[in-house]
Amino acid sequence: MDQAEQLRNVIKQKNLASTSGSARVVTITSGKGGVGKSNTAVNMAVWLRKMGKKVIIFDADIGLANVEVMLGAIPKYNLTDLIYKGRNIKEIVTWGPMDIGFISGGSGIASLNNLSKNQLSFLVHSLEELNEMADVIIVDTGAGISDYVLEFVLASPEILLVTTPDPSSLTDSYSLLKILHRNPFFSKENTKIHVVVNKVHRKEEGEAIFAKLNSVVGRFLNGDVNFIGMIPQDSDMDIAVRSQKIVSLEKPNAISSRAYEVLTGNFVNGENKQAAMRKGITQLFSSFLSRKSK
Ligand SMILES: Nc1ncnc2c1ncn2[C@@H]1O[C@H](COP(=O)(O)OP(=O)(O)OP(=O)(O)O)[C@@H](O)[C@H]1O
Ligand SMILES: [Mg+2]
Repeated sequence: MDQAEQLRNVIKQKNLASTSGSARVVTITSGKGGVGKSNTAVNMAVWLRKMGKKVIIFDADIGLANVEVMLGAIPKYNLTDLIYKGRNIKEIVTWGPMDIGFISGGSGIASLNNLSKNQLSFLVHSLEELNEMADVIIVDTGAGISDYVLEFVLASPEILLVTTPDPSSLTDSYSLLKILHRNPFFSKENTKIHVVVNKVHRKEEGEAIFAKLNSVVGRFLNGDVNFIGMIPQDSDMDIAVRSQKIVSLEKPNAISSRAYEVLTGNFVNGENKQAAMRKGITQLFSSFLSRKSK
């Protein structure tokens, strides 16, 4: 039995195919690195908490530990400890400011395609518990379109694509969308792609960037993207990041904080029915794993 088949059996046995009571899962990605993904993850998390939602950030970045630095919460264990060392899900969630939960993927992500049936079963069962611990699970990915980032993006019902007015960031965002749309496993109907334009200098600039991206996606990929917000270039944000703080916590009235509040409000209000059909962290990992074993 291959891994995909084993996984389907595990899910069937546990009757996990239904998504009722599942957390909403959104994966943050970008074509180009350093555009503000991790900042978006933590600032969204702050506003989601203020709106009464339970949040867990899953750090799928195998490189720099951006999120844990910003949350000032060093995890004791990561996903690897869960899979290989018998740690349970509660032990691998670290709670940061405002009770924002945080899971570090560690090197565990790279080994996800070599799991035995028991390990798979344990992982799926453990992840299912996350649905009770969170209303929203934010997956932060690393820079660039590596294979594993693409797998996460493909497995996600909702994607938040961060772009900036920088021409190369826009080109790279379009390239990522092109790769996505041409992938046979991408389902246009079941995936909601939100775009956030970060580091904008004027409102018109942000609007123009979105309009440009939206138009090429429509024309050449026959797809569409949803504008979820724009974040101004803000020195308060830079200051916060340099002192390893979260601007929305330190200075909730800063222009970038306010913009994140609006963005998060749009996210909360815009839950879409199609995406909801595929939501759930178990679903994300199942499609991730079943494709990895093909
Ligand atoms: N709106 C903004 N205003 C000012 N500076 C910003 C803004 N957004 C992000 N930055 C700065 O850009 C840098 C990169 O941000 P961040 O780490 O969130 O990007 P990233 O996309 O997660 O990077 P990586 O691809 O390396 O993971 C940070 O130093 C941050 O201070
Ligand atoms: Mg990052």
